[in-house]
Amino acid sequence: MSRLAGKHAIVTGGGSGIGRAISRRFATEGAAVVVADLIGERAEEVAVEIGGTAVQADVTVAADVARLVESAGRVDVLVNNAGGGMADDLLEITEEQWDADVNLNLKSAFLCSKALLPGMIERGSGVIVNVSSVNGMAFFANEPYSAAKAGLINLTRSMAVRYGRHGIRAVAIAPGTIRTPLWQERIDKEPAIFDRLVRWYPLRRVGEPEDVANAVAFLASDDASWITGEVLRVDGGLLAGNEQMARELVANFSPDDEE
Ligand SMILES: NC(=O)c1ccc[n+]([C@@H]2O[C@H](COP(=O)([O-])OP(=O)(O)OC[C@H]3O[C@@H](n4cnc5c(N)ncnc54)[C@H](O)[C@@H]3O)[C@@H](O)[C@H]2O)c1
Repeated sequence: MSRLAGKHAIVTGGGSGIGRAISRRFATEGAAVVVADLIGERAEEVAVEIGGTAVQADVTVAADVARLVESAGRVDVLVNNAGGGMADDLLEITEEQWDADVNLNLKSAFLCSKALLPGMIERGSGVIVNVSSVNGMAFFANEPYSAAKAGLINLTRSMAVRYGRHGIRAVAIAPGTIRTPLWQERIDKEPAIFDRLVRWYPLRRVGEPEDVANAVAFLASDDASWITGEVLRVDGGLLAGNEQMARELVANFSPDDEE
C-alpha cells in the first residue's frame, strides 16, 4: 500500500500506543515520518524500526514545538496524537492537574498546528488529524481531559472552515478504549479491566492501536479528499447507543439475557 507515498508527516506522541501504530502504518503507506515524543528513547526506537526521524519534544512547550517544526522541514500531514490524563472529579482535582491535562490535550494541538499551518497555506495543501476521544463527545469521567478533547473537536472544525480554501483538511478521530500503555496504571490495579469493559462495546472487544491507525491512514490520504471538519468515531459502536439500557427497556428483557 502506498496511500501516503511522498508525504512528510509528524506524529506527536509517536513513541507509544496509538502514535506508534500510526507512525508504523504511515511508513508502510510510503510516508516519511517524524516521530515526536516527550521521551526521546521511545521516539528513537520507533524511528529506527520504521526508517523515520526521531525528535524529542514536549509539545506543550512552544520552544520545543518550534524546534520540532524547524527540524522537520516540509510537513504534509500533522497528527496531533500526544495526549492523556486521568485526573477527575472537579471537587478533587487541583488547578495544576487541570492545566496539565488541558495543555497536553488541547494546547499542544494549537501550538503544533499554528507552527505548521503557514507552510501548508503556502503550499496550498495539508492535512491535520487530531486524536480526540469518545470522552470529548460524552461523559466518561476525567473532566479536564474530556473538556480538552471536546475543545479539540471544535478546534478541528475551526481549522477546517478557516483554512479549507487553502486546500487544508482538518479532521478528528474519537477512539473508545484502546489497548495501550495509557491504561497501565488502571491495569496494574485491575489486570482484567478490559474484560470487564467489553460488555459496553457492541463489537465485544476493546480497540487495538492498529484499529485507530487504519482510520488515521484513510483520513490522512487522498481517499478522504472531500472529508474535512469531520469527527470519526473509532469506538466499536460504543456511542451508537446504550445496549444495556435498551435491554432493560424491552418488555421481554430478562437478566438471564446478559452475556
Ligand atoms: N488508549 C485509549 O484508550 C485512548 C482512547 C481515546 C483517545 N486516546 C488518545 O490517543 C492518544 C494516544 O494515546 P495512547 O493510548 O497511545 O497513549 P500512550 O500513553 O501509550 O502514548 C502517549 C505518548 O505521548 C507521549 N507524550 C506525553 N506527553 C507528551 C508531550 N507533552 N509531548 C510529546 N509527547 C508526549 C508519551 O511519552 C507517549 O509516548 C492520546 O491523545 C489519547 O488521549 C487514547
